[in-house]
Amino acid sequence: MTSARGLVAAQSARFAALDPLLPPAAEPPLDGHVLTAALADGARVAGVVSHQSFEPRSITQLWSAAEVWELLPLIGTTQGMDALLTRWRKYLDTQDIGEDTACVVHWPSRDTRAARAFLDHGLVPLSVLAVRLRAPHQQLHRTLTIRRATPNDLEVVLELSLAELEYSSSVGSTVVRPDAAATKRRALAERLANASPIWLAERDGIAVALAECAIVSSAPGTAAAARLPQGRWGYVNCVSVLPGARGTGIGQQLVAHVHQELHRMGTVGTYLYYNPPNPLSSVFWPRQGYRPLWTVWEVRPASALR
Ligand SMILES: CC(C)(COP(=O)(O)OP(=O)(O)OC[C@H]1O[C@@H](n2cnc3c(N)ncnc32)[C@H](O)[C@@H]1OP(=O)(O)O)[C@@H](O)C(=O)NCCC(=O)NCCS
Repeated sequence: MTSARGLVAAQSARFAALDPLLPPAAEPPLDGHVLTAALADGARVAGVVSHQSFEPRSITQLWSAAEVWELLPLIGTTQGMDALLTRWRKYLDTQDIGEDTACVVHWPSRDTRAARAFLDHGLVPLSVLAVRLRAPHQQLHRTLTIRRATPNDLEVVLELSLAELEYSSSVGSTVVRPDAAATKRRALAERLANASPIWLAERDGIAVALAECAIVSSAPGTAAAARLPQGRWGYVNCVSVLPGARGTGIGQQLVAHVHQELHRMGTVGTYLYYNPPNPLSSVFWPRQGYRPLWTVWEVRPASALR
């Protein structure tokens, strides 16, 4: 890939023109399979496909297919996404593809020309990475008690987290695997023991909502730097309101508090993933100040790529 450097630089310019919050285009991974395609005007585009399998009982398998082919497109400023996706489809013909598999591409949400190509190849916008820059705190009338969760709260944190997993599995990327409860229990116990930023909202002493968050640094060389402007970010991993209590303002109160606290921890903004087909979160998050930065285009199983 002699022209890879030129494509990365051109792609960075494309990203900057599309959306001021996008970081420069990432360098391609060294260990993937390289695809190239020639366009009608003689320009060449490239892409790198990386292939990953996730362990059974890993937390990743609760939101991902077990085996993923991910394409990192390098199309510079061209309209070469369609040609590249055609190459990718041909490459997949050489692979042994099972059922619990996916093709995945992360691409800037505002690139509507590329969106057309993804749709034409059978990919769907299953998730978006949405961001909210730090903003002045909005004081809401507080009817709930909101507090940091401790290791003693493991059972209720687990219950709320599993409620979100189950809801999202109907309208998004998560999968309720047979061992989901045990896998989540292990991960949450560790996060609570490490005093991760996790909050519970209580009404009359009963926990009705959870916000499970983390602090993520986007610095040169980190995975986050490929997605976010540099700085310290609050990551909102899971927000869940008890099924019977949804739609009554609980999520809004909890998230306002979480923003205030994460900003107090020195973050420049917050980010999260939501699923556009989720009729609650796709309305809720934009109302809380979030907007799409990256769209995660996906097709399951991977053999369904057209
Ligand atoms: C998404 C969720 C956290 C929102 O919390 P909530 O307490 O139900 O939401 P609120 O009552 O605070 O409503 C806030 C906004 O969400 C939207 N909303 C709430 N219920 C809605 C519904 N049934 N349909 C569409 N929009 C709805 C509204 O825009 C509302 O704002 P508005 O009343 O000012 O218009 C909660 O519904 C939930 O746990 N859903 C299931 C799990 C989930 O999807 N989690 C998010 C994964 S990213």
